[in-house]
Amino acid sequence: MSTTLGAFIAGGIAACGAVTVTHGFETVKIRLQLQGELQSKKDAPRMYRGVFHGVGVIYKNEGPRGLLRGLSCAYIYQMTLNGCRLGFYEPIRTHLTNIVYKDSTVQSLGINIFSGASSGILGAAAGSPFFLVKTRLQSFSPFLPVGTQHHYKNAWDGLRQIYTSEGMKGLYRGVGPAMIRTGFGSSVQLPTYFFAKRRLVRHLGMEEGVPLHLASSAASGFVVCCVMHPPDTVMSRMYNQTGNLYNSAFDCLVRTVKTEGILAVYKGYFAHLARILPHTILTLSLAEQTNKYMRKFENRYVFKDVKSII
Ligand SMILES: *[C@@H]1O[C@H](CO)[C@@H](O)[C@H](O)[C@H]1NC(C)=O
Repeated sequence: MSTTLGAFIAGGIAACGAVTVTHGFETVKIRLQLQGELQSKKDAPRMYRGVFHGVGVIYKNEGPRGLLRGLSCAYIYQMTLNGCRLGFYEPIRTHLTNIVYKDSTVQSLGINIFSGASSGILGAAAGSPFFLVKTRLQSFSPFLPVGTQHHYKNAWDGLRQIYTSEGMKGLYRGVGPAMIRTGFGSSVQLPTYFFAKRRLVRHLGMEEGVPLHLASSAASGFVVCCVMHPPDTVMSRMYNQTGNLYNSAFDCLVRTVKTEGILAVYKGYFAHLARILPHTILTLSLAEQTNKYMRKFENRYVFKDVKSII
């Protein structure tokens, strides 16, 4: 019990640290995704011209506070997501391995990936209202507004206003694309990590160690961003709407592609990459280190056991 709590706290602190450093890019990403929504390319305004221009413009007009809008919501979301991952991963994995192999100690890559993705999806569903308020706080700007401007004083005020005017349904707006987005991301993260690692060892002769972990997690982060970004764009747009601009996430996707072209689903991609890369590198490389210590610990423990039997 205490180790799960320890893992929750340690993971939460690491995630919140990564979120603090990269939150400015997330703000730029959301504004880029909403900019020019349902407008053809030539009519679309371009107030934010890319990652660095976006960061610069927001910093100049709104200061660091502008870049960090919605940060407390991002923390709560991360803690919810991590809590669900830790809480649901082991039970799902144990159950499935019991059913398939009749032995819960078997480690199956497929089942592990499935359990990771399902616990991530549950976390995304639970945390969706926080992501919703976060998105609306981040798109609010007194200087260069994009999207519906919601006047929320803070995270709590946002949740309260949405609940009083639209009820639970309002709080869970966009939960579908939010679950798809996280499901996509969680299911490709580990397989691409191991794939990249094997390739780097085989073709570049890299050896086990920190540089290999960094390179493989960077490769994985890149792929995660590619598959996650289209549903992420749909999600941001579903979160922005207060009326019923779109009937469904699918409707949003189709109309976005029809009016703005296929590349519209990749609006804000580089800002997303700037956020995801440090995050993935930090979490995956850290996981390798903790696993290493875990194995060392287990070896010693098992060895001692064997000695005492002899
Ligand atoms: C955001 O949602 C509103 C509807 O609530 C819609 O009118 C608007 O076009 C959407 N996007 C932007 C960029 O404003």
